[in-house]
This record gives sequence, C-alpha cells and structure tokens, in this order.
Amino acid sequence: MKVLFVASECAPFIKTGGLADVIGAVPKVLGELGVGVKVLLPAYPALRNLVQAGKVVDHQDKLFGGPARLVAVRAEGLDMLLLDAPHLYDRPGSIYLDGHGHDWADNYLRFGALSLTAARIGVDGAGGWKPDVINAHDWQAGLVPAYLKQANASVPRCVMTIHNIAFQGLFDSSVRHELGLSDALFHHEAIEYYGKLGFMKAGIALADKITTVSPTYARELLSAEFGMGLEGLLQARRDDLCGILNGIDRDVWNPQTDPNLAATYSSRSLTRRAKNREVIEEWFGLESKPDSPLFCVISRLTSQKGLDLLLETLPVLIERGAQLALLGSGDRQLEDGFRKAADEYAGSVGCIIGYDERLSHLLQGGSDAILVPSRFEPCGLTQLYGLRYGTLPVVAKTGGLADTVVNADAASLKSKRATGLTFSPVNADNLCVAIHRACDLFALPDTWHRMMLSAMKYPVGWDSSAAAYKTLYETLAPGISGTGKEIQP
Ligand code: ADP
Ligand code: GLC
Repeated sequence: MKVLFVASECAPFIKTGGLADVIGAVPKVLGELGVGVKVLLPAYPALRNLVQAGKVVDHQDKLFGGPARLVAVRAEGLDMLLLDAPHLYDRPGSIYLDGHGHDWADNYLRFGALSLTAARIGVDGAGGWKPDVINAHDWQAGLVPAYLKQANASVPRCVMTIHNIAFQGLFDSSVRHELGLSDALFHHEAIEYYGKLGFMKAGIALADKITTVSPTYARELLSAEFGMGLEGLLQARRDDLCGILNGIDRDVWNPQTDPNLAATYSSRSLTRRAKNREVIEEWFGLESKPDSPLFCVISRLTSQKGLDLLLETLPVLIERGAQLALLGSGDRQLEDGFRKAADEYAGSVGCIIGYDERLSHLLQGGSDAILVPSRFEPCGLTQLYGLRYGTLPVVAKTGGLADTVVNADAASLKSKRATGLTFSPVNADNLCVAIHRACDLFALPDTWHRMMLSAMKYPVGWDSSAAAYKTLYETLAPGISGTGKEIQP
C-alpha cells in the first residue's frame, strides 16, 4: 500500500501548529505497519538544504507562472517529495502571511499548485512511484480530489483529513480559471461555496472518505455550532466521515531523553522535574514558589484557544497563590493582554510572546498543569504532551480534549484513572472552578502524584490510530499490500 500525504507543514522541518506534528509523526508509524508513505510539501526556504540533498524526479517549465521541480529526499525517517517552485514558495517570513500579517495574495495559487501536483503524481507517478491513495490534509490540499475528478481518474482514491474547519481557503470564484479548474466543477456539490471557490469545501465534497482528528470533533462538525457553515455538507456525507484520534511522536516527546530539558526524568524520578521548574522560573521571571502550582500555556493566541477567558480568570489564579508561564503568539490584543498581566502580577505571571520549540518542551517538563480552555479543539496536542510529561491538563471538554483527558471526579480518583480536569460549557466561570479544583488537588500531594502517574501511563502514541488509517486506506484500495508491489486479489 502506497499513500501520498499532501500538507503545508511537517515537523521538524516547517511548523506553525499541530498539523506539522501529525504529518511528521504518523508516516513513520504507518511505515512500520507496511504502508509506504511519501509526504508532498512545498519547498519553502526552511527546506532549502533538503532540496539540495535530494534528487530531482520531475520538472515542469510552467506551473502557475514559473518553473517547478519535484525533488525526492529522505530525512528524519520521512520520505518526502518537495515541490520546488521559487515563484510560489521562496519568500521570507511566515509560510501563510506576508510582512503585513495578511494572507499572501496568491495563496490560492501556492496551494492550488500543491494540490495539482499531488493529483499529477497520483495519475502519472513520480520517479517510478505511484500512490494507491492520496491523503489530503486541511484546506491547502483540498483541491486534490477536484483535480483528480477533472482528470477522470478513479485511482488513486482520496481521503480528506480535516484538522481545523475554521480555516477553509475561500477565494473569489474567478480564480478557478487561473487554477485551470473547469466550470463544470463550479457548483454547490463540488468546489463552489456560496458563490466562492472553497478549497476545504471541495475536499469534503469530492474526496472518497473524510476523516478528522478526534471522534468527538467528528460528531461536533455535524452541528451548526462547530461546522462553520459546512455542517450541511458534512451531514450529507456522514457515512463517509470518521474521527481518528491524533497521537504523538513518543521519541520526540519523551521526558526520559528530551534534550530540551534541564533534567530528564521518568515516573520513578519525578523530583527531578524541580530542576526544570527552576529554569522556567528564570526564563519567565517567576518567583521560586515550589509549593504552589505552576500552570503553563503553550498556544497560538487566537479566539479558538479561549485564552481571553484565562485573562479574565487570572485574578483567581493569583489569589490561590498559583503561577502562570505562558508561551504563545498570535492576536495582538491577547499578546498585549498577557504582557500587561505579566507586569501587573510580576513574579507570579510570566509570558514570552513568540514561538520557541525548546521552551515548549521545557514548560512541559517542569510545570504542574497545562491550561487549554479552547472554545473548540479538533484534537489538541499540548494536552497529550502534558499527559506524557506528567503536566496535568486542565481543559475545556470539547473535541479531542474531551476524548483524551480523564476528569478527576470522585469515581475516577477512586479508580486511579483521573489524569486531569475538564470543564464545560466553556466560559470564564467554569474555567475559574476548574482552576480552583486543580489548586485543591495540588494541595493533596498523594492524590496529585497518583494523577501524574496515571497521566504518564495514558496511551498517547500513534499505534491504534495509525492502524485505523491503514484500515481506511485498505477499504479504499482493497487487495493492495506491501509498500512497493501491488498484489492482485
Ligand atoms: P493547533 O494546531 O491548533 O495550534 P495543537 O495543540 O494541535 O494546536 O498543536 C500546537 C503545536 O504547536 C504543539 O506542538 C505546541 O507545542 C506548538 N506550539 C504552539 N505554540 C507554540 C509556541 N509559541 N512555541 C512553541 N511551540 C508552540
Ligand atoms: C489543528 C487543530 C488541532 C489539532 C491539529 C493537528 O491545528 O486546531 O486541534 O490537534 O490541527 O491535527
């Protein structure tokens, strides 16, 4: 079985959020299960070294206004195909935004080219390799099934994975001509969305199967509250929709070996975490208060993540003698809000505005709890890292957060299954109650310790979810096995 992943990010090479973590992790586990995955990515400047180390397997004189090459390379356990099209991807700064914080004006071309290239690989192959299934991830890959349909290709089959329906890739309808999409596809059962061209819409409407990143989000997506306008289409396709829970890369996120920690530890040496806490205190300008709970946040600062609610709740957290270390970037107002809070509550609240992979590991290795008060969360990975590191998640009960955190109530505490705290509905009052509960539990060292042990034992790896992807691919392409050769049934 051969599968082409198509995505705009892949850790550790290029990352703005959880999508990258997933794309960098699951192909390795699928490989162990006999599924040969290649990942198609745009060759952004951050990938220049990989392009130089790779082998050109295809080239085109013109792909939406400039020359393009397809470069095959293997690195960090991943087989990648890099779309090297400098006129589209060779730009400084963010991969999605220009220097003024707006989407690059030609994002439809940049990610249309990615989708078109994937479909071409699907139909013609690349370097002698041809996928049985293409798994398109998020809106940037949403046009893959549209281009396959336009080519009248019944193979390869196509899976569309929704990581976040809030980002839909909506563009003026006229761009379809530049993208070489036929007018025959411009209707509401294909690529059209209320008079616009919708990349995510196209993917959901035209893929053979649709997955999303947790079972609860798969159910939530069918409602107007979470479906963001696509709930009707998703209801119509509900038989083809399923939720497969994300896992984490247990090698990259392993407190026993993590090179980003001041002190590595296991569940038998939890006292070593104190050293990490000391380093966090230095970085975040916090007073040393080892007997008080230290909460952390590692997040994009957007309304999705509900961190405005945390700003409202901060006085309570401070009153309880707790501390907060926040690492994040995003909306200006939230950035300013947390900067101000760090001034107002100096020594108790520290914030670093920015993106820092090393610090994100350190925070997991030395904080007591991680706060994720999201209004919606397709899966969420920081709570999974928290479980693995014994940093107990205090989370909104939505999407993948609801599927992965066992709320500490009387029954789960008694049966030693509790791993964190959940609250709903998501509002400041309920977050406040959850913070109080966390502080109360922290004041019971034996109980907290037991919860840390349960959290660290909780299965957060990819094994069962990668097997679920494999099964899905097999239903689409029956009779295919092995990573290279096709076997007729
Ligand atoms: P989302 O993809 O919606 O942003 P996830 O929880 O799925 O949320 O994934 C976020 C990923 O990005 C995690 O790996 C998290 O550690 C990382 N991350 C988020 N913000 C930062 C930051 N400021 N610095 C470093 N890593 C961050
Ligand atoms: C999205 C979601 C997040 C999920 C990630 C990886 O960015 O917001 O919840 O964990 O994708 O699937």
